[in-house]
Amino acid sequence: MHRQYLHAGDRTVAYFDSAPGDASLKVLVLLHAFPLSAAMFEPQLRQPPPGWRVIAPDLPGFGGSSEPAESDRGTDIDDYAADVVTLLAELGVPRAVVGGVSMGGYVALALLRRAPDVVRALVLIDTRATADTQEGRASRRAMLAQVDREGVSGVGRDMLPKLLGPTTREAGDLEPTVRRIIIQQPASAVRGAIRRMMDRPDSTRELDALAVPALVIVGEEDAITPVADSEAMASRIPAAELAVIPRAGHLSSLERPEAFGERLVAFLSRL
Ligand code: MLT
Repeated sequence: MHRQYLHAGDRTVAYFDSAPGDASLKVLVLLHAFPLSAAMFEPQLRQPPPGWRVIAPDLPGFGGSSEPAESDRGTDIDDYAADVVTLLAELGVPRAVVGGVSMGGYVALALLRRAPDVVRALVLIDTRATADTQEGRASRRAMLAQVDREGVSGVGRDMLPKLLGPTTREAGDLEPTVRRIIIQQPASAVRGAIRRMMDRPDSTRELDALAVPALVIVGEEDAITPVADSEAMASRIPAAELAVIPRAGHLSSLERPEAFGERLVAFLSRL
């Protein structure tokens, strides 16, 4: 698995591509969670759904992508969606199924606002459509202070037990991989993402009007965006199905790639 790099204007967008340049395949874009990178999609990149090409960008500042330019609007999650639009345009991909895990889901919803024509179908994975609560914003502020105090490893240490479900944690084999991905991320990227997540708008109205099919996936043991959040999203979307992945936490695509893949393939095969 090698990172590819695209330079467009003042942006460098790094990404993984399971079949570079193969225009005969349909495209599934996967957007990663916080505070990870596109490396979390190794299982899906190694074994893409049959007939599909998986493209997984590093969101701005993460992995190999350059730091986000501050837009006139300040810190806006739509900046992240802009990079995805740029990448797909440069790769000559007019439409794609867009899937996002947690923060990646917030970006998928931003993409729906910013460039709805690009989205052929939506896969919302361990995420939510609502904005941060007051309490959530207070935790973000505490996390910003923690990044200043302890760096990214402190955030990783506190988040790891919540990112992985108890079943995965007991098995113990995935923790080192997730920790390694987290500590590779620069503090500036983590700060930028925290600010964007705490300022993100509510997207539930976009779901009510969603005109494309959607699959909502959630790990049964997800402690960050619990099953109830996914049920709420699926119930608002006119054409949605809900898949609960047994024995998985917040990183269901990484924790249970086989079960996750089965539900994803079943959905994609109906498009
Ligand atoms: C994520 O996994 O991307 C984050 O937990 C999302 C969040 O903190 O809202």
